[in-house]
This record gives sequence, structure tokens and C-alpha cells, in this order.
Amino acid sequence: MADDPVICTCLDMCRSEIVEGIKTHGCKTIEDIGDAIEAGAVCGSCHDDLQELLDEVNGK
Ligand code: FES
Repeated sequence: MADDPVICTCLDMCRSEIVEGIKTHGCKTIEDIGDAIEAGAVCGSCHDDLQELLDEVNGK
């Protein structure tokens, strides 16, 4: 997959890592992601993108 942008620049976490984390930990909210893999728990500017990934993984 060529298209794997960094989503959370604070933690340097790219899209595939975050999607994997959401699946592995069964995250339902941005807070869940923060608790599980820390993405989104620093500055918060990636929250819109995290929500999109949550919607995608959890089928919205
Ligand atoms: S970019 Fe994700 S917490 Fe700052």
C-alpha cells in the first residue's frame, strides 16, 4: 500500500498502524484510541482523521 500517510504527527503514527490498533483493541471512540495506542492523546489536531478511521473500521 503506497497510500499510508502519517495521521498523528505527535506520535508519528501512520494510517495503517492506527487502523491496526483500532481493530486490535476494538476502539469505538477517540478516547479508546488514546488509551490503547496513545494516538490523539497529545495535541488533538488529528481527531477528525481519527474519527474517520473509526467510522471506516466500525462500518459507518
Ligand atoms: S497529531 Fe495526534 S495528538 Fe497531535
